[in-house]
Amino acid sequence: MKEELKKLLEEAKQSLAEANTMDEAEALRIKYLGKKGAITEILRSMKDLAPEERKEMGQAANETKAEIEQSINARKEVLKSAAKQAKLIEEAIDVTEPAVEAKLGASHLISKTIDEITEIFMNMGFSVAEGPEVETVYYNFDALNAGPNHPSRDMTDTFYIDDKTILRTQTSPIQVRTLLKEPLPIRIIAPGRVFRCDTPDATHSPMFHQLEGLVVDEGITMADLKGTLDIFAKKMFGPSTKTKFRPHHFPFTEPSAEMDVTCFKCGGKGCRICKGSGWIEILGCGMVHPNVLKVGSVDTEKYTGFAFGMGLERVAMLKHEIDDLRYLYENDVRFIEQFK
Ligand code: DAH
Repeated sequence: MKEELKKLLEEAKQSLAEANTMDEAEALRIKYLGKKGAITEILRSMKDLAPEERKEMGQAANETKAEIEQSINARKEVLKSAAKQAKLIEEAIDVTEPAVEAKLGASHLISKTIDEITEIFMNMGFSVAEGPEVETVYYNFDALNAGPNHPSRDMTDTFYIDDKTILRTQTSPIQVRTLLKEPLPIRIIAPGRVFRCDTPDATHSPMFHQLEGLVVDEGITMADLKGTLDIFAKKMFGPSTKTKFRPHHFPFTEPSAEMDVTCFKCGGKGCRICKGSGWIEILGCGMVHPNVLKVGSVDTEKYTGFAFGMGLERVAMLKHEIDDLRYLYENDVRFIEQFK
């Protein structure tokens, strides 16, 4: 029996040395030490031996069992740390690998233009107002002193939802909404989307953006209008920019004007951008018509005001020499990325 034990021990050690995984080591533990394992069988057969032999053999068998157990545990330790090592190598991160460049988004040019203009007027004490894109005929036309037969009311120019509701054709209705909502004095700008029944081409789009301005206070005159807009023009288009005000007509202002700026490309000499004239039309403006102030519950004996409105696509296109409005809405990254 001693021989048998010795053989078992050697055999076990030999097999263990060849066991390369935890599973194989565990299989060997079961083979030798499990319920039906070789050593267990031997220990069980002890009961058939004579008492003095039983003692000696029992001791020898237990020693062999302990030794095999120890060998298995030692082998398992080795295999465990080898597995851990292999995992570490497998999961290692090579910090010298070149990184995949993450694509960063950018604000759209129209958003940037709104931000830029807003910043200029905020620095002059203006705040930002808003109004709905789905507007009433009343706020878009009637309240702005546009007569019942004003051409812009036409179905061919305006998107009607029903006979009282439209998509606003201008940001000007925000003027009256603000007058009715805010205490005087008022000094606001209001950027937003506007809609007109136009077929898209290089200079037209059924949706575009405007930025409205309104100042109402005691003693506001045309000089305030000109001074404010002249500062805006110089900040927006460069310090040497000059402004010129040409008489015009809008229903909601009296007197009304259009403001031109000296061409920021040629400085006024005449070029492709300004079509040879040296001047570029930028916005409409004027002193707020008393009828509009009255609709806004303003005491016209005490208060006067000025207003202005500009097309943001036009300003952005002129400033960045973009020759087709449609680029602004196609969302081609090659275009958008140029204005990061
Ligand atoms: N709402 C005008 C338009 O869409 C632009 C405009 C002109 C706005 C003069 C104004 C203004 O506030 O005073 O053509």
